[in-house]
Order: sequence, then C-alpha cells, then structure tokens
Amino acid sequence: MYPAHGGRSPNIANKQQGPDVAVIIPAAGSGTRMGPGDNKVKRLVRGHPMLEWSLRCFLGVPQVRRIIVVMRNQDGDWMRDLLREMVRGFGRLSTAHVKLVVGGAERQESVFRGLQTLDDAPPDWVLVHDGARPNPGRDLVGRVLEGLERNLAVVPALPVADTLRRMGTGETKVVDRSGLYATQTPQGFHWRILWEAHRTAHRDGVLGTDDAQLVEALGRPVHMVQGHPANLKVTTGVDLEMMERIMTPP
Ligand code: CTP
Ligand code: MG
Repeated sequence: MYPAHGGRSPNIANKQQGPDVAVIIPAAGSGTRMGPGDNKVKRLVRGHPMLEWSLRCFLGVPQVRRIIVVMRNQDGDWMRDLLREMVRGFGRLSTAHVKLVVGGAERQESVFRGLQTLDDAPPDWVLVHDGARPNPGRDLVGRVLEGLERNLAVVPALPVADTLRRMGTGETKVVDRSGLYATQTPQGFHWRILWEAHRTAHRDGVLGTDDAQLVEALGRPVHMVQGHPANLKVTTGVDLEMMERIMTPP
C-alpha cells in the first residue's frame, strides 16, 4: 500500500528526512455510552465532526507520512467523503497515504487491523490515537515524538487528581493515588515493538484497554510524557458539551 518513491524504499527516504511516522486512528466503535445515535466520532464539535479535528492535527505534523483510519463497514461512505475532503483541503498527503480499513469488535482488534495494513512497508514509528479524542494538540504530539527518540514506547499521561476509592464487599476503601497517572492517546511506539506486542496479544487471546500495556506485557518499559487536560476522551454527552467549550482548533 506504500507507493514507490521513485524506486527508493521508505527506509532510505527516512535517513534523509527523519522518522517515517504512521498514525492509526481507531474510529470503529459505536459510542454506546453516548446514548442513542450514530458513531460518536461523527458528532460535531465547533461545527466539525470529532474525527475531522484529529485528522487536521496529524495532517499538520510533518513527520506523519501515513494515516490509517479504522472504521465500521456501515460508516464507509461517510468516512471516504471526509478523508477525500481532508486530503483535498490539506494537500500534504495524497489519498494513497490516508487510508480506511474495517475494524473489529474490540478497539484492540481495530488497532491490530490497522497495523496489518502497514506491515508490507512498515513505518519507523507508529502513533495510535482514539478517534474519540478530537483535541490532542500539536505540542502533546510533539512530546510523544520527542520521547520516541530515546524510548520504544511513549504514553502521554496526567497525575490522577481525584481521591480514589475502591468498592469492596460491603465497604469502600480509599486507594493511595500517589504515583498514579491517567493515560491518554496518542501513544507512540517504534514499529517493531508494537507489531510484536499486538501479534503476541492476538495469538494469546489477551485483551488490554490500551496499546502500551501490550508492550509492557512483553517486558518492555513504557515511558510517560506529560498529557494535557484538554485532550479529553469524549465518552458521554457531558464530555461532548465540555469539549465544545475547551476545544483548541489546531
Ligand atoms: N473503537 C474501535 N473499534 C472498536 C471499539 C472502539 O476502533 N471495536 C474506537 C472508538 O471508535 C473510539 C476509540 O476506539 O474512537 C475509543 O473507544 P471508546 O471511547 O470506548 O468508543 P466506543 O467504543 O465507540 O464507545 P462505547 O464504548 O461507549 O460504545
Ligand atoms: Mg468502547
């Protein structure tokens, strides 16, 4: 799927232009916690679909050479129209570099399918970003990319601010929150480590809630960089209202 650059392999091009970065955006959910309605990534924030905001952000990052959006079959027409429009508007990447792939029943399966499409001509680094986070911000993306210069896996995260309690049987107990962080996306990885982590999880039937924990399961360290409070994952209607207010267009 990676078009030939005048016969040069992508790896030769990398050495001249810095890392070849691919972004996978899982957007194949149905947004059930948002309540009745369509896939939440189509919901409008400041007049534009959530997914469009993430695409705008990554299209503006020069190191990003490919974007794979993972979608549900039934969203195909809508997604194709959006991607075509975005590519036309930005002009930096061609439609050959901004692709759609059909996802699976779980987010992890959707990301795995995205990775499979890259395996033919792997990038150096891959960023995985939730379609339901329309406001990643260029600075945060920059911190993740910078982290990848020295680490195999990089996760943006913020210290947990609330006091935490665990529900037991008949009683609740406070949980020590010191040292606890809430993770965000985009999570960044060197290609070979994420590919190995996902293939291993797939083979063993292991399901995680994010990608970094699959890398961790291989015994590899995961580096944290500072996340951003406005990089909220839109899960419920209240999150959507909040995003409408805090969105900072890229
Ligand atoms: N996602 C995906 N494939 C799935 C499930 C989720 O690509 N089978 C994507 C969603 O589209 C979303 C991201 O993963 O961009 C994070 O998932 P989540 O916030 O849970 O979204 P949904 O699964 O759509 O929402 P819900 O769990 O409320 O149904
Ligand atoms: Mg979900």
